[in-house]
Amino acid sequence: MTAELSPIDIAKFVAAKRAVDYVEDGMRLGLGSGSTAAWMVRCLGELVRDQGIKVTGVATSTRTAELARQVGVPISTLDEVKWLDLTIDGADEYDPNLNLIKGGGGALLHEKIVATASDQMVVIADVTKQVETLGAFPLPVEVIPFGWQTSKALIEEMLGNLDVLGNTASLRLDHDKPFRTDEGNFILDLHLRHIPNAQQLSLVLNQVPGVVENGLFLDICDVVVIGNADGSVETRDINNGTVEREQIDIVDTDNLFVDVSE
Ligand code: 5RP
Repeated sequence: MTAELSPIDIAKFVAAKRAVDYVEDGMRLGLGSGSTAAWMVRCLGELVRDQGIKVTGVATSTRTAELARQVGVPISTLDEVKWLDLTIDGADEYDPNLNLIKGGGGALLHEKIVATASDQMVVIADVTKQVETLGAFPLPVEVIPFGWQTSKALIEEMLGNLDVLGNTASLRLDHDKPFRTDEGNFILDLHLRHIPNAQQLSLVLNQVPGVVENGLFLDICDVVVIGNADGSVETRDINNGTVEREQIDIVDTDNLFVDVSE
């Protein structure tokens, strides 16, 4: 199977495999969304199946919930479990302080609620997600459909007064229709290029009428696991100030795909 994986998939897979080392028996887990998080869900399914580990997952998207069920990870709701031990999720960008941009897959609202309701958040990523300053990746903002053009205009006006390089927002599309989140909302992608003051931007954005949440995850992430195409991973823990490097054994991963339909 590894021969069929692209270099980027190997990087995502090894990050995911290392991250599930944080999982302990009995944990309540937040399950992120996106292609890297999907690897993590498969690795978790393997743990449950082969080692008999018992966990309860709270999925951040319908897609993740579906995959978790397919690989045998029990799923509950956040209202049922109320608090989580650990969330593992991907990211679109992370900076040296482990502040993030998320929402490339459109699941930022559920992802932020779930990560905030967790004792620990571990982000899994390949090295292409690493930046000095957030903002090259367009910042997703979830808005309600009612009056979204007004929300967009207010955001663009507000951006003109802030320390960012771009001030345009575009409505995310799914083919020729607006993309809908799991909550039925729209996503505006803000083309900012450089966000020197993410705290200020996040506060201001969430005051615009119609904005539900933005994709800046600030002071939420504790650990980032960075995977590389050669099978090596780097684990940075912002609280302990530690950086560990190791090589992940990429054994036959065929069983990770058993009965999983993409
Ligand atoms: C979804 C997200 C994802 O975590 C982010 O887009 C990264 O995705 P991928 O692992 O596919 O690169 O925030 O809303």
